[in-house]
Amino acid sequence: MDQESPYWIDGSVPETPGTGEYPDPWKKTEIIGTRVPRVDAYERVSGTAVYPHDVSLPEMLHGAILRCPHAHATVLKIETSKAEKMPGVRAVLTGNSPGADMPWYPRRGTFYGRLFDTNCRYEGEEVAVVAAETPLQAFDALRAIEVEYEVLPFVIDDEAALEPSAPAVHEGGNVVGEPRVRERGDVETGFAEADVVVERTYRTKCEIHAPMEPHGSVARWEGNKLTIWDTTQGVFSVQEAVARAMGLPLANVRVIGHYMGGGFGSKLEVGKYTVYAALMAKMTGRPVKIFLPREDCFLATGNRPGNTMTVKIGAKNDGTLTAIDYRSLGSSGAYAYGADSSTLAAYLYTCPNLRTEDTTVYINAGKARPMRAPGFPQGAWALEQAMDELAQKLGADPVELRLKNIAGVFQTDGGIPFTSNQLAECLRKGAMEFGWSEMRARDKTGGHLRRGVGVAACFWGYAGGPPSTVIVKLYSDGSVNLNMGASDIGTGTKTWAAMIVAEELGVAVNAIQIEYADTATTQYATSSGGSKTVPSDSPAVRAAAYAVKVQLMRMAAEQLKVDVSDLEFRDLTISSRSDEEKKVAVTALEKLDRQGVVIGTGYRDPNPEDMVTFPFGAQFCEVEVNTRTGEVRLLRFLGAHDSGRVLNRLTYDNQVFGGIVMGVGLGMTEERVLDPQTGKMVNANFHDYMIPTMKDVAIEHTCVPIDIPDNEFNTTGTKGLGEPATIPTAAAIANAVCDAIGIRVTDTPLNPIQLARLIAEQQKEA
Ligand code: MOS
Repeated sequence: MDQESPYWIDGSVPETPGTGEYPDPWKKTEIIGTRVPRVDAYERVSGTAVYPHDVSLPEMLHGAILRCPHAHATVLKIETSKAEKMPGVRAVLTGNSPGADMPWYPRRGTFYGRLFDTNCRYEGEEVAVVAAETPLQAFDALRAIEVEYEVLPFVIDDEAALEPSAPAVHEGGNVVGEPRVRERGDVETGFAEADVVVERTYRTKCEIHAPMEPHGSVARWEGNKLTIWDTTQGVFSVQEAVARAMGLPLANVRVIGHYMGGGFGSKLEVGKYTVYAALMAKMTGRPVKIFLPREDCFLATGNRPGNTMTVKIGAKNDGTLTAIDYRSLGSSGAYAYGADSSTLAAYLYTCPNLRTEDTTVYINAGKARPMRAPGFPQGAWALEQAMDELAQKLGADPVELRLKNIAGVFQTDGGIPFTSNQLAECLRKGAMEFGWSEMRARDKTGGHLRRGVGVAACFWGYAGGPPSTVIVKLYSDGSVNLNMGASDIGTGTKTWAAMIVAEELGVAVNAIQIEYADTATTQYATSSGGSKTVPSDSPAVRAAAYAVKVQLMRMAAEQLKVDVSDLEFRDLTISSRSDEEKKVAVTALEKLDRQGVVIGTGYRDPNPEDMVTFPFGAQFCEVEVNTRTGEVRLLRFLGAHDSGRVLNRLTYDNQVFGGIVMGVGLGMTEERVLDPQTGKMVNANFHDYMIPTMKDVAIEHTCVPIDIPDNEFNTTGTKGLGEPATIPTAAAIANAVCDAIGIRVTDTPLNPIQLARLIAEQQKEA
């Protein structure tokens, strides 16, 4: 980071005597880097944690949403009079209701459609909402609403959407914006210089986030003030969107998002249900809760779009890459979203000649949303399989080929240095702990059970930064309150934040009371997405705790009559280095006793200029393929990740394992299936939409952190982990399957249905 910039932005602590102006990078740590169970583990597993779904207010009504059952239709007429007379019904909301006809901005600056759009562009588009005394009364009443639709032709296939004759999802054609093109050097020259060229088309299927906790909100008015309990990754972004929709000052909208049961990006943008709940609460003068049924979550709360990717790579005989040409087509669904997948291919490896082109099309299906490393797992499926094929053709080891081409700089604007890039360490250490060379050397012939190993690498293209503000208060009895606006989306945010305070102040992790994710009572933070919560907010937490420590040191210096530079702070006791007689417990500081509390405010400093920061990673897997059935068993998975310093080794491991499990879903089991006859999703439930279970995931998971602090980037030395942990997984599986049986599987899901067919074709050819 820019060490010249003032650390204390608020000027409340003009200098920090004795310890230098900045907290130095941690050297030896006592708590940071250890395994600490989540501070809210008891609440989560005992059922005492109050999730938005658990919020139950006096006089609360329950809402239900009527959705278009067609892939594409115009609403000609809505008749709600029968529904209004149903038992328990207190209000019915449509686009014709007062105040409900409005444009829809799910995130700041992103406009799409209207709160109720009479042109329903996908199965699941909202048509009407009912509020009733009980949830079942609300759902019953939906069936009494009579809607006259004009059913329209639809398009649900990305390539078909490009045809001039395709039904138009929006006026002006089905291409979303302009195709995004990136060029450096000259690819034609690059391929002319190549000794070996590989080219192939890869496809990933559309995947649904499928968090366990459905999406929903509770809304309550008190006068002209609105309180919302929301399933969200960022309370401040919900506040912004709701205030805009309701025409309220931001200060009148309080959003609380304390516990959340998984989002993976699907809870980054506000849902229409939140605004419906607010509108109906206003209409009825009663609190309104709306939670989506599971099927609605599958249809209407986002997805990872499928991509079709053609990648061509050229290399010299020694493995040096000479050119990459990458083309991607993806679908945004019914409303605009950029379904790009090329970024990984553009920057992971050194390559002087590059061309990428991303095209996104509208189709008549649910809108995509960011999903855990948007675009990157798809890009890895293509790029990292192409690198594997290149290694085969060159007769090179796939790990060695990657090591040879590691990017020394971020290849844009003539090359920007990374604050850190430990991809080589990820590959080397990962390979060593996995036993890569021994596994590769094994005899793979004979029998119908064939084992193989695969590797894939990644970076993740986001790292976070300011703004973030955190307040730490230390009371006269030595207990501590930590106040931060960030959401804990299940990843352990509260726990590492408490660990940082504990590390700085020597208090017990569980003695820290934490206020978080409430727009009315906690400090502003950006949403928990992009794997940026740790690198964005942890330096602010550390700065706040440090500001407390500095004030306590000064009080001690005064009381002990020694110079502050002679003091050291340890376990809530401040002592002189030169005179061991001179020491004072924090709770015995006279000034603290009079003052009652010490307040430390911490800010996240700007990122360093002229440098970029990304997390890196490499994953290794071993598979066993049954060549009679096409079944693939995952035997082992190893994730070696460079995410800077490890704060909590327990939740670090969990992120890596969770990312791998999710990548197994993309690679092997998950697929949104749209019926070509009707355009409707046929597997909008947990029975037919197969997220990986214990029987699908690897038998053994290993996490190998490359625990090297990135002290250039921020004062905790951290980078993100949640998203990189899922990027290389699917590609590593496909590469392992190819190693086992010599079949390159270009399309997800790599399941027995597909693999048995490919094996049969292979045997026919032989
Ligand atoms: Mo993530 S897709 O930024 O929650």
